[in-house]
Amino acid sequence: PRPVLLAAGDELVATPAHPAFAPQAEAYGYNGSTPGPLIRIRKDEMFRKVVRNGLTEETSFHWHGLTVPTLMDGQPQDALAAGASTEIAFPIIQRAGLNWYHPHPHGHTGRQAWNGMAGFFIIEDDEENALNLPSGEDELILVLRDAKVQGLTRLIYELNPDGHEGDFPVVNGVAWPRTTLNNRLVRLRILNGANARVFQLTSKAPMIVIGNDGGLIDKPHPVDMVEMSPGERVDLLMDLRRVPPGARVGLNCASAEWKLLEINVVAAEPTSWDIPERLSEIEPLVHGGGEPERTFVFQETDRINDERFDMKTIAFAVEQGKVERWRFASARGAPHPVHVHGAHFQIIGGQHTNGNPRRDYAWERGWKDTVLVRTHETVDVLIRFDSYEGRYLLHCHKLEHEDHGMMLNFVVA
Ligand code: C2O
Ligand code: CU
Ligand code: CU
Repeated sequence: PRPVLLAAGDELVATPAHPAFAPQAEAYGYNGSTPGPLIRIRKDEMFRKVVRNGLTEETSFHWHGLTVPTLMDGQPQDALAAGASTEIAFPIIQRAGLNWYHPHPHGHTGRQAWNGMAGFFIIEDDEENALNLPSGEDELILVLRDAKVQGLTRLIYELNPDGHEGDFPVVNGVAWPRTTLNNRLVRLRILNGANARVFQLTSKAPMIVIGNDGGLIDKPHPVDMVEMSPGERVDLLMDLRRVPPGARVGLNCASAEWKLLEINVVAAEPTSWDIPERLSEIEPLVHGGGEPERTFVFQETDRINDERFDMKTIAFAVEQGKVERWRFASARGAPHPVHVHGAHFQIIGGQHTNGNPRRDYAWERGWKDTVLVRTHETVDVLIRFDSYEGRYLLHCHKLEHEDHGMMLNFVVA
């Protein structure tokens, strides 16, 4: 199932989802579907959209991965009441990449997302277009989730402070999906839109990482496995050129032993396109070194540095335009997918508490907005807020942790 493009004149509406997915009050989506309609826009354009809350409870529209002014960011403080609408307008000031939108109301993000609320927001630019990456029928855009149902389709959401996981996979709103792809190089653009589950993607077909949260990475990296936590994106090429037509290939999740997607490979005219040697020039952030300016310890299920989220409290202020070094550390309750609003960061290292350095993962190169902090691990990043002043959020993207308070406000000034 390929997501449908949001038409220029259409509003984006939070709605009960289409009855085809699950005929029940609990199923949510956007414009009657889950995932919601796909938004595609070019760098330097203006994004303008009326967003409406068609639910009977408060929600908000957060543009995950997009650098936008505070009042457009869909933060819990600015949630929309049931029935209300507002106009969103912001310029696209960042490079090409796969971003997404989802709800962010205080204390209810996990349940609303679980019930089906997520949509893709793709930015294009000249740098990426020049590479001529596989597109059309050779490109899949996928949101991975998991679900738990009662009977055939009734979604059940239990409040589990450790993170709510389902017992079967759902890709683009479909349980155990299948698709057909040409025996060519294909592009899989993947979002982990699950509440709490970490996916370990494997396949018998060769996989090559070309991008992530912040767009293209420097050069292609072949991988045997990609580990993705909630909120992260990965851009993969899958080489189906040597798969015999008629054969089936899976995109699997090693940790859950699931086949996330079954791919029927069919014969097609070969193309002359091959994997480029270089993808992008990434400007490395530079920092004087020394101790990190800030350390954030993610504790149990509900705290960062001994504080639970309070909407009115601002935890710290960062200076606009200055490169800072931040350290994310996990106490108990890990793994924690750590997400920052308002800027992208670069991962420069980290450690396990046993003293071993953290591994350098191909899918973590370049620009990120979410990083998986595993048990007993620290992750060091460099970050620079150079776009807007205002209030932004730092939080764990395991949505139950976020809802329970593993989140804080900071300001850029
Ligand atoms: Cu995808 Cu603050 O979240
Ligand atoms: Cu976000
Ligand atoms: Cu967490």
